[in-house]
Amino acid sequence: SETPASLITIFGATGDLAKRKLYPSLYHLFTKGQLAEHFAVIGVGRRPWNNDTLRAHVKDSVLSSIPEAKNVEEFISRFYYQANDVSDSSSYIQLKELAKDLDEKYSLQGNRIFYLAMAPEFFGTIAEHLKQDGLTDTTGFHRLVIEKPFGHDLESAKELNKRIRNVFDENDIYRIDHYLGKEMVQNIEVIRFANAIFEPLWNNRFISNIQVTSSEVLGVEERGGYYENSGALRDMVQNHMLQMVALLAMEPPIRLTPQEIRSEKVKVLRALKPMKDEEVENYFVRGQYGPSNNPEKPALGYREETNVQPESNTATFVAGKLMIDNFRWAGVPFYIRTGKRMSTKSTKIIIQFKDVPMNLYYNSDEKLAPNLLVIHIQPEEGITLHLNAKNTGHSMETKPVKLNFSTNDIAGYNTPEAYEKLLHDCLRGDATNFTHWDEVALSWNFVDKISRVWEENKAEFPNYPAGTMGPVEADQLLEKDGFHWWSVT
Ligand code: BG6
Repeated sequence: SETPASLITIFGATGDLAKRKLYPSLYHLFTKGQLAEHFAVIGVGRRPWNNDTLRAHVKDSVLSSIPEAKNVEEFISRFYYQANDVSDSSSYIQLKELAKDLDEKYSLQGNRIFYLAMAPEFFGTIAEHLKQDGLTDTTGFHRLVIEKPFGHDLESAKELNKRIRNVFDENDIYRIDHYLGKEMVQNIEVIRFANAIFEPLWNNRFISNIQVTSSEVLGVEERGGYYENSGALRDMVQNHMLQMVALLAMEPPIRLTPQEIRSEKVKVLRALKPMKDEEVENYFVRGQYGPSNNPEKPALGYREETNVQPESNTATFVAGKLMIDNFRWAGVPFYIRTGKRMSTKSTKIIIQFKDVPMNLYYNSDEKLAPNLLVIHIQPEEGITLHLNAKNTGHSMETKPVKLNFSTNDIAGYNTPEAYEKLLHDCLRGDATNFTHWDEVALSWNFVDKISRVWEENKAEFPNYPAGTMGPVEADQLLEKDGFHWWSVT
């Protein structure tokens, strides 16, 4: 369907996210003809810029991510700048005037998208001003796109939600979880529901465990101030990791509508087995990186980073075992693991199938390798199936073989960036790949318990050197169940 006309107002236009992700994504949509002919962008920021400063900035952002970009001048001519003080009505009144002019100039039909790409403490205030100062008084649609973090815990998330729901309907709120825009995260459901060889096996009779790892090489960089109060649990687990688990575990939706998919995901989150305080340590492991002990790759410890407390109790690594208490999954652990300053930048899902009843083959004193389905989310995008086949020659020995599909191997095949797809979805009014309030609330509820226990009990940090796969306790978490983390390709 054709994208409707729209005015896109970006709060945080001078910021990092806009520069790295939003401008290049909008440009891609523009060149692919996926942005309606009728569109304009207002960049809102605190700095005293003008249209020219913003346009030069946008141009720079586009060219640094797409050096061969064409028609950039035409693209940036649709950008306008409005300096604003987020808590001052008079700046919203100016914004309203500009929006009205652009609405007429480009025939935007009163359709408006407000993208909040800035510090979360202002989300509520901005939403309230948008209504109070008349920015939402037009005949078209009004959608709010809101970046993470959505609250700091369930209480603050409820508070924030109440404020924005006074202005926007739930259906018009697009809470970003950029993992939901990733090609291979969207592919989880297709792999499951479009393949007769997987869906019948996708349950506790045939799957022994599922492992989701999202590791990063970078440390906290300049984000120490934010990260100190967040840690890996709030930064990655509450959102991205639990969203992937929900997609892996949900029942087939009766239809591919946002409502049906969401209601299946919500059921998974409701089925997460709750823990008592004293059980948290049996299911969750935390880590914090210390300095690297590899002289070739020196790195500071977390506690030495800028804006980090010298005795910080913040976890930069989390590993956990989630149990989903329903008929399909009872007894199957979902292990998750994520952290900063690990050895590789990679997100992967590994589905380990149960063993065949016995090994018939010559090397029968050894265990056959289990079948694995690997879903490569990034940087590779694709799937690998690990099977056993006959070793070539006269004997009947087995050897492991791999069936591999990788989009990275297809020349000229470029999957769009997550943000490009999410912006396009929002323009078309498709909220499937955004987080509904019910999902936010349930995942905070789960994570809050862990944060509270961890805040009350200080950890022995640091407990893993920068550049490694986390503390030994993360390995022990699986060993006690007779499993181990697969590091397969
Ligand atoms: C963000 C976190 O949501 O996701 C960051 O705030 C993290 O700390 C990032 O680095 C990881 O995203 P990606 O797409 O690089 O895996």
